[in-house]
Amino acid sequence: MASNKRGMHGIWGSRWTFILAATGSAVGLGNIWKFPYITGENGGGAFVLMYLVCILVAGVPVMIAEVLLGRRGRMSPIHTMQAEAKEQQAPAVFSGIGWMGAVSGFFILSFYSVIAGWTLAYIGKMASGEFSGADADTAAASFSGLLADPWTLLGLHTLFMIMTGGVIARGVKHGLEDGVRLLMPLLFVMLIMLLGYAITTPGFVQGWNFLFSFDASKLNADSIVVALGHSFFTLSLGMGAIMTYGAYMPAEASLTRTIFTVAFLDTLVALVAGLIIFPIVFSNGLEPAAGPGLMFQTLPIAFGALPGGTLIGTAFFVLVAIAAWSSAISIAEPAVAWAVEKGVSRGRATFIVCLLAWLIGVGTVLSFNEWSEVTFLKGTFFDNLDFLTSNLMMPLGGMAIAIFVGWYMRREDAEGELNVADHRVFTVWRFMLRYLSPLAILLIFVKGLS
Ligand code: PHE
Repeated sequence: MASNKRGMHGIWGSRWTFILAATGSAVGLGNIWKFPYITGENGGGAFVLMYLVCILVAGVPVMIAEVLLGRRGRMSPIHTMQAEAKEQQAPAVFSGIGWMGAVSGFFILSFYSVIAGWTLAYIGKMASGEFSGADADTAAASFSGLLADPWTLLGLHTLFMIMTGGVIARGVKHGLEDGVRLLMPLLFVMLIMLLGYAITTPGFVQGWNFLFSFDASKLNADSIVVALGHSFFTLSLGMGAIMTYGAYMPAEASLTRTIFTVAFLDTLVALVAGLIIFPIVFSNGLEPAAGPGLMFQTLPIAFGALPGGTLIGTAFFVLVAIAAWSSAISIAEPAVAWAVEKGVSRGRATFIVCLLAWLIGVGTVLSFNEWSEVTFLKGTFFDNLDFLTSNLMMPLGGMAIAIFVGWYMRREDAEGELNVADHRVFTVWRFMLRYLSPLAILLIFVKGLS
């Protein structure tokens, strides 16, 4: 029965552990790799503004709702949503939120692991000194050489999946806590250092303007959908990862303050990453809309030019890989937690989840070489998987969570769990959840997909 599954996975040591774990989940490839490249593809400042609005209007309220649900349920999202839908007498579709999340989790993990594999390759490339004094052409050639080789990509994808499974199999608490506590601050320091370099490049002002000057003519329906999707992707929302971490959160911790901290840190890392990458793009006459290779073709130029760049560059990619690692763990955890609640051993559940995601990942590996010409709907296999999960499934999951908590959960249950001293905070949040967040998501969907 539900009651004996509750809390079986353990509770984080403190509120700070939750902040670290949730930040570990949120800060990842989404911030350092994806945010700059989709900003480049969608014309810059206007897109950034849309993204920030989406974070505030939809991301933060939904994140609070998702953690609240997790903490009330204290189980995997599938079981939590089944129990909550029943308890709040909501229509049965809401109990499916957990299932949809688990499916998106498989898809996301499958391509996330492939891209994280690239960062592993770059640790090696950096350490070997390949980029010292490198110009833009050398950096670009090195990247396309990597993508052209499916076997290397497959090997790296496999390695990353094993790393991820290795931590999950041991239980999230032990593997994750120490790592994140030490390494996230280090990643921050590195980013600030790189920002220092970017400021000295001749393209800094142009990079700054590209990110922060608003030109409405650059916005189209598609880019608004991408901005919305990314605000969910970067905060790990709408697919159960944050709900699962919420299930391990201590009962007395303040939800609102905690979540503002996580959302703030996540946004900061993304903006700083943009402020590093675009000045390098413009200083070297590169193309901002270069796509998924943007980070891998720009940062090596910076490291190549810096004194001690080989060492710093190696360390940087180690940190990015770790940021990706702590995110990947949270992507797989909902499905694993569900299987464990079903009586499967943690080791076996991890193996099956990782194997399935690994298999789907082969499609992404091939999207960059053998199948690069095979395009349909939104592009390659990878493009479609990315669009489907980030831009459709995650916002849809987020909308369902907003409607469920906003409209079906009894007010006193929500207020009791949120436990804010200031009543006005609750009122504002609930209003956003009931009206603003679902409407914004709906509008963007209708506009973007029609
Ligand atoms: N938020 C992570 C990132 O930005 C990715 C992620 C998506 C993590 C979904 C968990 C769930 O890299």
